Amino acid sequence: MSRPVLETERIRLEPLTAAHTEHVVELDSDAEVLRHIFGRALSRAEVVDEHLPSRLRPDADERGIGYWAGFARDDAEAFLGWWTLAVDDEDPRAAELGYRLRRAAWGRGLATEGARRLIRHGFDTVGLDRIWAETMQVNTGSQAVMRKCGLRHVRSYVGAWPHPLPGAELGEVVYQITRSEHLGAEYDLPLDRG
Ligand SMILES: CC(C)(COP(=O)(O)OP(=O)(O)OC[C@H]1O[C@@H](n2cnc3c(N)ncnc32)[C@H](O)[C@@H]1OP(=O)(O)O)[C@@H](O)C(=O)NCCC(=O)NCCS
Repeated sequence: MSRPVLETERIRLEPLTAAHTEHVVELDSDAEVLRHIFGRALSRAEVVDEHLPSRLRPDADERGIGYWAGFARDDAEAFLGWWTLAVDDEDPRAAELGYRLRRAAWGRGLATEGARRLIRHGFDTVGLDRIWAETMQVNTGSQAVMRKCGLRHVRSYVGAWPHPLPGAELGEVVYQITRSEHLGAEYDLPLDRG
């Protein structure tokens, strides 16, 4: 199964491919977007040579997971950012949820809307048993999205990073949702479709 196009009320999620390179380069050129990830903007070469290849893994696509580029459904030109169910190399029954949106898209519930759609795809279509996500303790926005998607905090740890970002001393948090929790969940907003 390849990654399908997924839709929500406001977002068209297309399988991310090399054709989206310019959008990803532009997204990663904003240091504020990467504040809790790299603490700085990335150069075009870093995006193209170091980061993009791992987002285009054919083995992920074969399983129906990987990265999706999100576009506003009322303006197909408007790139919103990307969402992912990334391969968990230690657990083939699990995937890591992630999202990175352009600043212009923040604050409208879009990260949550897209993430919920990916979670539904991951459990109902791919058949995953567990979806988890990780961020810095200080990334309160990302944790709010996780909670709104039904993930719960399961673990915290302080990492030994070579170049720690501000707030690294407060550690990282890991959230997850299991298949049975997903099946029992009642989502508060009818944001999904398709
Ligand atoms: C974090 C991020 C994905 C949030 O996207 P978003 O579309 O603004 O999130 P939503 O609108 O779906 O917000 C969901 C909840 O999070 C809250 N929230 C969002 N950003 C927040 C922030 N910076 N601080 C505190 N709460 C925040 C919202 O208020 C909302 O809660 P509410 O409905 O109770 O008000 C976005 O800011 C982003 O892409 N940041 C840069 C990349 C990043 O950090 N990704 C996560 C790495 S693990």
